[in-house]
Amino acid sequence: MSAQFPVARPRRLRRTPALRALVAETRLDPAGLVLPMFVKEGIAAPLPVASMPGVVQHTRDSLRKAAHEAAEAGVGGIILFGVPEVKDGVGSGADDPDGIVQLALRDLASDLGDAAVIMADLCLDEYTDHGHCGVLTASGEIDNDVTLERYASIAEAQADAGAAVVAPSGMMDGQVAAIRAALDGAGHKDVAILGYSAKYASAYYGPFREAAECAPQFGDRSAYQQDPANADEALREVFLDLDEGADMVMVKPAGAYLDIIRRVRDAVDVPVVAYQVSGEYAMIEAAAEKGWIDRDRAITESLLSIRRAGADITLTYWATEVARGLV
Ligand code: PBG
Repeated sequence: MSAQFPVARPRRLRRTPALRALVAETRLDPAGLVLPMFVKEGIAAPLPVASMPGVVQHTRDSLRKAAHEAAEAGVGGIILFGVPEVKDGVGSGADDPDGIVQLALRDLASDLGDAAVIMADLCLDEYTDHGHCGVLTASGEIDNDVTLERYASIAEAQADAGAAVVAPSGMMDGQVAAIRAALDGAGHKDVAILGYSAKYASAYYGPFREAAECAPQFGDRSAYQQDPANADEALREVFLDLDEGADMVMVKPAGAYLDIIRRVRDAVDVPVVAYQVSGEYAMIEAAAEKGWIDRDRAITESLLSIRRAGADITLTYWATEVARGLV
């Protein structure tokens, strides 16, 4: 035994695929993945989203089929975004019982039963003609408290249509409390709230705005979404949402905010959710298309990293593919 050789050899446990699999600290479980899906009113066939290769705006029928495939693959949940034909200043389509998202929620609730958790994104930007997440004052600012009344009504409509979880993403102050009160008042005490608690004003949402047709017509969302410079503020938002009755909290985007995911995971005792957003998807797909990156490895690595940072549940557009073990 000569002193120049190392005693500790971490490489011993990295030697074979079986050893590496045995000692892996983090694994991807399809049951912890949620698939975001878009359903568009008034189209006859699914429409590809150019900036998100592989993602489409669904018809009601194609949505049913794709949701069924996701559930069959073992994906734990689906989160639905509606794209209405007609938009207006107050986003009337959002809480219309016959609006596209409510119709699609009813379809999914009857098709899927308990095979996957049905969630609804709760916001106004897909439904307003100005593309902002709230109702505007005469001078063009977002009216926080009037918006809360709209969110309350949307929550009720989504719960009536069969959503098991509503997920407010508009970053209005007091939104979780307003929604909890509305749900309880309407007899939906068992409908859960997933707060988009720490949602940043991010360039990574770019492709989503094509998918949901919701780019703001003026200004941006920096007056309500969080500044990427801030971390402590994320914890403040998370604790406010928990005080207001959130059942789960979200950090969004995911990949560039792994530090926030970790801090939130260490600070709370509810499920922590991360949203791997459209820009994160588009970057890997685009680089892979050019042959600059190994697509499947990059997808796996990105999702493992989000999980390793502390996310219990991850929203990802690759959910079905990953659940099928294809990457
Ligand atoms: C707002 C909402 C957005 C996303 C989810 N919910 C867009 C935004 O805030 O601008 C983005 C999701 C993504 O980029 O994948 N309803």
